[in-house]
Amino acid sequence: MAIGVFDSGVGGLSIHRALVERFPTADLVYLADQAHTPYGRLPGERIVDLTRQGCQRLFDAGADLVVLGCNTASAIALRRLQQTWLPQLRRQRDRPTNILGIIVPTIEAATGLPWTQEPERPPEKAEALETLGVFCTPQTAASRVYEIEIDKRRGDLAVFVEPCPELAQLIEGGASADILCAAILSHADNLTRRVGRPPDRFILGCTHYELAGDLFRAVLPDGAALIHQPGATADALERYLASHPEYDIGSRGLRRFLTTGQPGPQKGLVEAFWGGPMVFEAV
Ligand code: DGL
Repeated sequence: MAIGVFDSGVGGLSIHRALVERFPTADLVYLADQAHTPYGRLPGERIVDLTRQGCQRLFDAGADLVVLGCNTASAIALRRLQQTWLPQLRRQRDRPTNILGIIVPTIEAATGLPWTQEPERPPEKAEALETLGVFCTPQTAASRVYEIEIDKRRGDLAVFVEPCPELAQLIEGGASADILCAAILSHADNLTRRVGRPPDRFILGCTHYELAGDLFRAVLPDGAALIHQPGATADALERYLASHPEYDIGSRGLRRFLTTGQPGPQKGLVEAFWGGPMVFEAV
């Protein structure tokens, strides 16, 4: 069996690469829903439907465990699918079956607290706040998941979210470094204006942005700390697998890359990030 990784497009490869490094002998299948990318401005119900279809394709391709390598799907669709679809799917498949998201591990990394350690009452607000800037898609921003969940856990951490409506599509389309830098700079300036100074730490809260991670690091203030979502996701999956031995993640080091869009070689930015040629198969 295999681990499936799902995203609207190539962004989830940032999560996938971290899982390949962490579980080198596991079998991994990636699905990019490039026929419908980007998700970040689609209506919520459409994101739920597309995420369900993508997960089904990955289960059909041999995955038992699917990681949503997409903040937008994790914020908008994951809870719905876990509550309304997974119970019946488990009965049909009659084998261990689950879908995990990437926002919980990221919030654990940002707060330094395990998810299950949610205090009974929100913590008192501290006077000297550390600031955290989150770049993400409009739908992830609209869900307010980062503000709500971090606020419940840490009274000394103030979250400022910056929706970046055009950025995932630019990265998906292989835009030049100049165009990407200009877009990143304008979003970083927006955050700085709202906070009154550059935030102390940042989350790249859309997996596409990690593919342009070097450009973010060049644009953000020197020494700004970035919370590494792919690493946090790999850590969380390692803990999950240790406590769920019923999942067999395979041992052949199989790698498959599927797309609902145009099969074939991927654009320069993707290959540069992956460190070699990358060819997607039609699903
Ligand atoms: N990479 C995705 C995310 O993390 C989706 C971006 C999009 O399709 O708009 O949100």
